[in-house]
Amino acid sequence: MNVDLYERIWMWGVGLMLTLFFGSTAAAAFGHQIHPPSHVETIDPKTALGDPRFRPQGVSVDAQGRVHARVVGLMFLWLPSEMTVPADTPITFHLTSADVTHGFEIVRTNGQAMVVPGYISQFTTRFPHPGDYLIACNEYCGVGHHTMAAKLHVVPRGQWQAPTTATSPREQGHDH
Ligand code: CUA
Repeated sequence: MNVDLYERIWMWGVGLMLTLFFGSTAAAAFGHQIHPPSHVETIDPKTALGDPRFRPQGVSVDAQGRVHARVVGLMFLWLPSEMTVPADTPITFHLTSADVTHGFEIVRTNGQAMVVPGYISQFTTRFPHPGDYLIACNEYCGVGHHTMAAKLHVVPRGQWQAPTTATSPREQGHDH
């Protein structure tokens, strides 16, 4: 079979590029443990607000000292609407929706995940730069979509105070 020189060059070029693309994906997945920001954990959207996996909502520290942030999205709010986390610390976000699909985006960071009713989205990230970040909804969810926002305060590690009680004082008043 006679293959033209130009064609040969393109074939080798394409082969090389595909090797690079698949290789970099494999290196990210197996070498750097970078995976899609979700895992298959289900939840009943109707009871998501009271689900023990989302109590307390907001920031907490587990027995191993890891920081978690639990957020429920619903038309047209993120609960809680304000959180404070330490800079330069891995924060694991647990997200779910009580109604429709929302998009959790911590603007100007790599913290982002789709929030699908019936599932718990999870990702871990760290924030090197202290400051106030906007959490927006980037998935159209209804007439109030553009108002669906929350605040994330990232404070220097030394200034951050871990929440001490299992339930924050603000939530104790209206437990159903
Ligand atoms: Cu929630 Cu858009």
